Formats: sequence, C-alpha cells, structure tokens
Amino acid sequence: MSPIHIGIVGLGNVGRGTLRILHDNAALIERKLGFPLVVTALCSRSVIEKAPEEVALFPNALRTSNWKEVVEHPAVQIVVELVGGMDAAAQIIDSAIAHGKSFVTANKELMAEHGGEIWEKAIAARICIAMEASVAGGIPIHSVLREGISGDRVASLLGILNGTSNYILTEMEKRGAPLETVLKEAQDLGYAEADPSADIDGYDARSKLALLAALAFGVRVTPSDIHLEGIRRIRDIDFAYASRLGQTVRLIAAAEQTERGLLLSVRPALISRDTILAHVQGSYNAIWVRGVHGEDTFYYGRGAGPTPTGVAVVSDLMRVAREIVNGSPERVSPFAHPDLEKYAPAPIENQVRAHYLRFRVRDRPGIIAALASILADTGISLDAVLQEPSHNSHDLPFVITVEPTPQGALRQAVAHMETLDFLVDKPLILPLENGLQK
Ligand code: HSE
Repeated sequence: MSPIHIGIVGLGNVGRGTLRILHDNAALIERKLGFPLVVTALCSRSVIEKAPEEVALFPNALRTSNWKEVVEHPAVQIVVELVGGMDAAAQIIDSAIAHGKSFVTANKELMAEHGGEIWEKAIAARICIAMEASVAGGIPIHSVLREGISGDRVASLLGILNGTSNYILTEMEKRGAPLETVLKEAQDLGYAEADPSADIDGYDARSKLALLAALAFGVRVTPSDIHLEGIRRIRDIDFAYASRLGQTVRLIAAAEQTERGLLLSVRPALISRDTILAHVQGSYNAIWVRGVHGEDTFYYGRGAGPTPTGVAVVSDLMRVAREIVNGSPERVSPFAHPDLEKYAPAPIENQVRAHYLRFRVRDRPGIIAALASILADTGISLDAVLQEPSHNSHDLPFVITVEPTPQGALRQAVAHMETLDFLVDKPLILPLENGLQK
C-alpha cells in the first residue's frame, strides 16, 4: 500500500524522541498499519546549521527552517506541530487546516484555550486531528476517554498531572526538606524550569485538566474556568501533620459532575495514604477516573520525557494515518456535545469537603479559642486540633481539621481569621480529597 508522508515542525525533546521512535520502530509500524510512515520534511530554527543527531536518521527528508515549506509540501499529508506556545503553533495549525492537511499536536496550552474552535474548523475541512501528547505524555488518556471508556458517562476524575510538582512534593515528604531546597536541586538537575511558575503555580496542570474535562464531559472548559492554587505555600511541616492524619499532600487536578454543574480545581490537597493516588511518586503522572457504570479505572505512567511523549505522537500519527487511508475524518468534536451542557463549570464555593487548616502563630493564651469561635460563628464543625512539638513560640505551627463544609463558608471564616494579630502568616487551607466522590 502507498505510504503516508509526514512533516514535523519543532525538533526539541519531543520532536527528537518522535524521530527516534519513527526510525527504530519503522518496520513494526509498517506491519501494524499495513503501510509505512515516511518522514518527508523536518523543520526547526536550527535544523540546517545545527541539526539534532536524530535528523541524520532521515537523510532523504527536506530540512527547512521555514514551517510553511512543511505545511505546503505537496507530498506531506500529516503535519506534526511540536513547537509549543501559542502564536506560531496557532499559525501552523491554521495553515495546515487551510491546506487540507491532517495534523498531530502536543500543544496543551493552545488546545486548552482554543481546542473547541480548532476542532470545528478541522471537522469542516474534513481532516483528521489528534492530540494525545498534550496531556500526561506517556499515558494514553485521550484514547481512554475518547474510545476505551467512551461508552460510559464519567462521574469524576482525579489526576496528578504535573511531574515537577509531584517530584518536589514527594521529595519534601521523603526527606523533610523545604520546597525551596528541593526546587533548587530540581532546577540544577534540569527537572524543573529556571522559571518554575507553570509547574509549581499549577498552570500546566490546569491546561491539562481543561483538556481532560473536555474529553471526559464533552463540555468546553477553558483554563480560566478552573479554580487554581499552586504548591508554593506547602511546608515540610505539612507532611508531618498530614501523616498524623493518615494523609499526604499532592497537587490534585479534580473534576466532579454534580447536580449543580461541573466542579473543577487544581490545588494542593490532602489525600489518604490508603488511596492508589498517594503512591504516585516522583515525576510520574496518574489519572483516576470513575464512570457511572464501569466504576473506577486508573492510569499511570510518565507524564513527560522525549520518548514517552514521542510514543504518544507516533501513536497519534498511526491513528491519523489509518483515518486518512480509511477515508474517515473526524465528525464530532470532543469539546462539544450540546446535550451535556447542564454540566457546565460551576463555582467551586459550592463544593463540600473536610478541610485542613494550618496556622503559624505567635504563641499566647486563647488562640485556639479565638479560632474555634470564628468557626462556630460560621457554622463550621471542628474535627481535630494537632500540634507537633516546637520550641519556637514566635512561629508556632498547629493544625485544625474541620468537618465537611462548603468551601465558600470556609473562605468566609478564614477571611475573618486573617485579621487576627497573632498570625505570622495567612492560614493554609487544604481540602481532603479522599478518593473519588460517589
Ligand atoms: N512540565 C511538565 C511536568 C511536563 O512537570 O509535568 C510538561 O507538561
């Protein structure tokens, strides 16, 4: 059978991993598809003067630093967009659609913000698109949600979607080290970016959750619909308190269908050490999905890295190539099933959870009484008070846990607490996410 020709734009880590797999697995891919994938054009800024070594594996491919030569190449049938970011990537994808070329992308930011419009244009142009590598690189969660469990209605999902923050939190937990120390080490080892904000402030996980929520619930979710808190305020002491409660702390991306709408959040949370999610260590990612009929399924793997993400890109290429050969372009966008609109995002203030409140105070009599009285006035029931031994009476940490409470009521109480003069720092408020809600 005739081959399918591909052009790749962007030869960073993922591009290089993709080339390595396309080369090493070429015969296997041909056996699985019944036809070969041929790399016809390669584009990056430096591909002509300083090509990565993987480029030499494809001596017959056109090399160019102008992406238009890839998209407009008469033989190229699938464009792979691996440049990331928003503007250039959007132009490449728009141009691919305009030229009737199918495409594969790993771009979470672009697809999280504009995936709905992009899919509509692609469907109108009768081309095929795939974006598995945009979320949790090595975990085929798009295929799971679009195919594997698509016969079910998803009720909720919980994910660890950012490897860098999971690495930082699990190292803090193991070694009792402060966040700043572990972050610095991760930066020195190249695991964390020099500007770590996208990872530790939760933006990366938020874009990924926007995409997963679209796939799981068929609604258009943009990142700004999602309640966001990062991990900067987590201290090593929080792991000691969490442990006394049988819990640990992770950056959790959560989506829950309720009668009031879809509740979406990315925030650090306490999770029970008995749950499978608590065992996700280091830079691994995981997604735990609850379906109404199929119940719980759990997906675990590398969230990033050249070859795990490269596998996602190559598998997408195989899928799109099959669709081209079979003449079956996309017909329904995963971002919009109109009859599911009642599950539009709803304010997180409605969500009811038990909470962990960690205080740092200048010690004096009456502190617990003052805090307990604010909780009582707001109708919030106190569950436990915990205090680890400490000799620093000028910065004394302790924890109060409260019974399940709507987040809005708790925020009101905390706003009142923040006016108290014995606080050294604002209280840290973490929900308890003890697994998926029934
Ligand atoms: N920086 C991300 C992470 C990987 O740490 O998981 C790419 O999304």
